[in-house]
Amino acid sequence: METQTKQRNSFTGSLGFVIATAGSAVGLGNIWRFPYLAARGGGGLFLLVYIAFAVTFGFTLLITEIAIGRKTQESPLTAYKKLSKKWGFLGVFSFVIPFIILSYYNIIGGWVLKYTVSYLTFQGKDMVADDYLSRFIALKGQPIVFMVLYAFLTFIIVYKGVAQGIEKYSKILMPILVIIVVFMAFYSFFISHTDESGVTRTGLQGLAMYFIPDFSGLTLEKFLNICLDATGQLFYSLSISMGVLIAYGSYMGKDVNLGKSVNMIELFDSGIAILAGMLIIPAVYVFSGKDGMSAGPGLIFIMLPKVFNSLGKFGSFIGIIFFVMVMFAALTSSVSLLEAITSSIMDKFKWSRRRSVISMSVIILLVSLIICLGYNVFYFELKMPNGAKGQILDIFDYLGNNILMPVVGILTCVLVGWIVKPKEMVDEITLNGESFPRKKLYVIMIKFVAPVLLSIIFLTGLGIL
Ligand code: PFF
Repeated sequence: METQTKQRNSFTGSLGFVIATAGSAVGLGNIWRFPYLAARGGGGLFLLVYIAFAVTFGFTLLITEIAIGRKTQESPLTAYKKLSKKWGFLGVFSFVIPFIILSYYNIIGGWVLKYTVSYLTFQGKDMVADDYLSRFIALKGQPIVFMVLYAFLTFIIVYKGVAQGIEKYSKILMPILVIIVVFMAFYSFFISHTDESGVTRTGLQGLAMYFIPDFSGLTLEKFLNICLDATGQLFYSLSISMGVLIAYGSYMGKDVNLGKSVNMIELFDSGIAILAGMLIIPAVYVFSGKDGMSAGPGLIFIMLPKVFNSLGKFGSFIGIIFFVMVMFAALTSSVSLLEAITSSIMDKFKWSRRRSVISMSVIILLVSLIICLGYNVFYFELKMPNGAKGQILDIFDYLGNNILMPVVGILTCVLVGWIVKPKEMVDEITLNGESFPRKKLYVIMIKFVAPVLLSIIFLTGLGIL
C-alpha cells in the first residue's frame, strides 16, 4: 500500500490540477449545449438560475467527489469501497458511466474534427446545407475514420500519463481555448446584418436578448423546466458523477487548497459557458432572428456554418478557429473520461498504464464503432421513456446522463450525507487548516437538497414526473 501511494501519478501542483479539471469540465457541454439551453430558457433567466445552482448544488457535488478522490487516493472503481466496505458497487457504476459516455463522445468528437477539416480545406460553402451533418453521419466510412482519429488523439494524451500527458496538454490547449472564446465573444458585439425584408439586427441586440431576463409568459411550469434544464446542464458541465473528479482528485497533492481550487474550476467552467453564449447567441440572432435561436442541438453544427458563410472569406477563418476551439474543449474532456477508466483498471488489477489504456481504448473503440453504424447499418429509432426518439448514440447518452448519472449522484449524497457523514469530507477539505465558509450550506446541500433535486431529475428522465 505504501509503495502504491508513493508511486501514484500526480499533478505537479495546484495549477496543473485546476487546469486539467477545468479542461474536463469545459467541453461540448459549454459550447454546444449551454447556449441553446440558455436561448430556450429565456436568456438571462436561465443564466440567473444556472449561477445560483452552480454556487450551491454544483459546488457541493464537485467538492465532494474531488475530496473522495484525494481522501482515498483511489480511482472511481475502488474509491467507494475504501470509503465504506458495503458501497463498492457504486464504484462499478462510476466506472461504467465514463465508459458509456466516452463511447459516444468519440463520435461527436469525430464530427467536430470533420468540421474543422472541412473549414481548413475551404468547404465552408457546402456546410451551409441543412442536411450537411445528417448526410455525413449516414456515410459508412468517413464518420468512422474521423472517430478513430479523434479517439487516437485522446489515447495518446492519456498514454503519456498524468503530468506528462494530461497536465501538459491541458496547459497548452486551455489557454488557447480561452483566447479564442474571448476574442470571438467580443467580435460578435460588432456584427450586424440587414435581411431581405430590410430589417437590420445587431450583435448588441442579440446580446441584450441573452442577458436580460425575459419574464413574459413565464408560468410556474416553465420556470420548473428551466430549473431542471439548469440542473441537468450543471451536472454534465461540471463532469459530476462520472468518476472523473474522483480520479483527478486522487492525483491532487495533499497540500493543495481544495476549496479554492474548486472555486476556480467553477468560475472557469461557468465563465466559458457564458462566453460561448455571448458568441453564439448574438451571431445566430443577427443572421436568423429569434427563430434561429430555437435551433436547439443543431445550433453549432447547422446554424453556425450559415453565420460563418455570410461573413464571406473572413467567415472561413472564423470557422476554422471556432471548430479548433471546440476540438480542444472536447479533447480535454474525453481525455478525462479515458483517464477515469484507465486509472480504475490500473488500481483494481494493478496493470501498467500502457496495458490498461491500450486494452480499454480498443474495447471503447469497438463500442464506438457500433454506435457509429447506428446511423446506417444498424439504423433504428427507439422511443425513450421521456418521449424523445433516438438512435444508438442517443440511447447511450440517455442511459449515461438520465439514468446512471443521477443514480450515482443520489447514492453518493446518501453515502456521504448519511453514512460516512459530511464531517469526513469537511475534514479533507480543511486538511491544512483552510477556511471553509460554505460549510453549513454544504452539509444541508449534501444531506437534503442535492438528493431531492437529483431524484426529480431521475424521475423526469424516466418520464414518471
Ligand atoms: N463536462 C464536459 C462538457 O461540458 O462537455 C462533458 C463531460 C466530460 C462530462 C467528462 C463528463 C465527463 F466525465
